[in-house]
Amino acid sequence: MSGIVFFRTERLEEVCEFYTRRVGAGVWLRQAECVLLKHGNFLFGFCRGERAETQGVLTFFYPRPEQVDEAFERLKDRARGAPKENERYRIRHFYADDPEGRSVEFQSFLHPVPPHEDGADLLAGRRSVRRYRGDPVAEDVLGGVFELCAFAPSSRNRQPCSFVTIRRAELLGELAAVRGESSAPIGRAPLAVAVIVDTARAGRPADDGAITATCLLFAARAHGLGTCWIADMDRLAVRAALGIGETERIVMITPLGYPDEDPPIPPRRPPVVRVAPA
Ligand SMILES: Cc1cc2nc3c(=O)[nH]c(=O)nc-3n(C[C@H](O)[C@H](O)[C@H](O)COP(=O)(O)O)c2cc1C
Repeated sequence: MSGIVFFRTERLEEVCEFYTRRVGAGVWLRQAECVLLKHGNFLFGFCRGERAETQGVLTFFYPRPEQVDEAFERLKDRARGAPKENERYRIRHFYADDPEGRSVEFQSFLHPVPPHEDGADLLAGRRSVRRYRGDPVAEDVLGGVFELCAFAPSSRNRQPCSFVTIRRAELLGELAAVRGESSAPIGRAPLAVAVIVDTARAGRPADDGAITATCLLFAARAHGLGTCWIADMDRLAVRAALGIGETERIVMITPLGYPDEDPPIPPRRPPVVRVAPA
């Protein structure tokens, strides 16, 4: 299920230009006299009409408070005032006017929020995060991440994976030092998670482990958390420190925490698709 909020407008082109060029929305669909826009999972549309509908507030929210200030710099000429914190709602925000005088709010929640990003944005928006804020990750948020991972497919539905959470600062420091700069992000997060596969239970341990680990990256992102796949640290000392059993294998370790950076998208190869010989 999804939904769209519609507004009548007397200045369709100008209003759409504002929301696409200045706010950063994309055109989702064009229909006769309407243009439907998308910003994250927010769908809103404008239809040509004789009288503009200007009631209500269109609120756009960002994961990090700094992004509200960046939006303010871009939209200063339309802002009603500088960004400020509202303690009652625990948000950082500012208001602006769109070209027809609708109220537009730009905000960031100063606390974790439940998952809201949809599939395509989740897939395209995940990045490897190597710098984290110190804010703790609440147990119920962590539980929500692991619950999402339970939907991972596994060979013969054996569900052979488990997770080890690592919060002890000393151990995080040791794990961060195992592989130099490659493993250093572990030391910058409030916790790390190791994905473990039980080879005695798994139908296909390598596949099952990689799939669950990949799900962990997206489940964490859905909860606003950053991750970074740190390749196998299956060393005796690490195994002992994490209490890994004889038939178990460490698939990967990831730092987990609220991102303190918004990494750009590294270059992507265009899809390589070949047609099987006839
Ligand atoms: C199997 C695997 C191993 C990786 N190992 C490391 C690592 O040891 N250290 C690290 O900082 N990043 C590691 N990464 C993250 C990659 O560098 C990253 O996914 C890639 O540069 C693309 O960036 P993105 O994840 O932001 O899209 C690893 C990723 C994968 C899938």
